[in-house]
Amino acid sequence: MGTDLTYAQLVAALDWQIELGADEAICDAPIDRYGLEGPAPKADAWTKRDAPVPAGTHDNLAAVPAGTEPADLPDPVTEARQTAMAAPDLEALRAALSAYQHCELRKGARNLVFADGRPEARLMIIGEAPGAEEDRVGKPFVGRAGQLLDRMFAAIGMRRDAPDVQTAIYITNILPWRPPQNRDPKPEEVAMMRPFVERHVDLVDPDLLILMGNHACQALLGKRGITRLRGTWTEALGRPALPMFHPAYLLRNPVMKREAWSDLLDVHARLSG
Ligand code: URA
Repeated sequence: MGTDLTYAQLVAALDWQIELGADEAICDAPIDRYGLEGPAPKADAWTKRDAPVPAGTHDNLAAVPAGTEPADLPDPVTEARQTAMAAPDLEALRAALSAYQHCELRKGARNLVFADGRPEARLMIIGEAPGAEEDRVGKPFVGRAGQLLDRMFAAIGMRRDAPDVQTAIYITNILPWRPPQNRDPKPEEVAMMRPFVERHVDLVDPDLLILMGNHACQALLGKRGITRLRGTWTEALGRPALPMFHPAYLLRNPVMKREAWSDLLDVHARLSG
């Protein structure tokens, strides 16, 4: 870093690196890797060297019996399915996700965002992926969209921390790590995370699911087009599921809150009926 940068520029550069996911200073002085002799280090070299890797993953080849060819190892989706299915409870599922090495998003995220609310709740809400605020705090739906979500459910008497399971909600996302710059989830990321979402729903065992927005619908119904899908009960993972407008969409299109209100009344009626 040149000495001619001002204090404010240095702070801005540091903020930018933190935003990109840097959370540790490795050396006192920077290394110009482009100036080094020899082949450039692979982009994921640090992960292989420093990150703790659970036994049995592709990255931990020492744990694989000698003579095992990479083709014999399970692919990332199969491994996700095996590890998710083996989780006997939510804590184990969180630990399995945290140990799962194949999703690149984990490298750029500050926190694993697993869930919030009461696991005993009858209603489980599934969103898309954490944003910046969720990534920082480690909980789903805590930014502006999350605050709107809380107000929406409060309007029908439901809260994340309600003591009564009838009025409690439980919230998770399809992806547990923030995609860089909040870009859309990639199909291969969704494919890897879907087994964890399926197990999550099995373990929570809610009566009803809410699919918040297009990405949750795409992942669990194989369909998008939320304007057409919203408001009509369908089935996802063997349970009644209602697609709804995502609160981030409602922040941009407040006129659609009328439809969201009608959906909330429908949810309330189902839970009371
Ligand atoms: N949007 C989502 O879909 N999930 C979050 O956790 C936050 C915003």
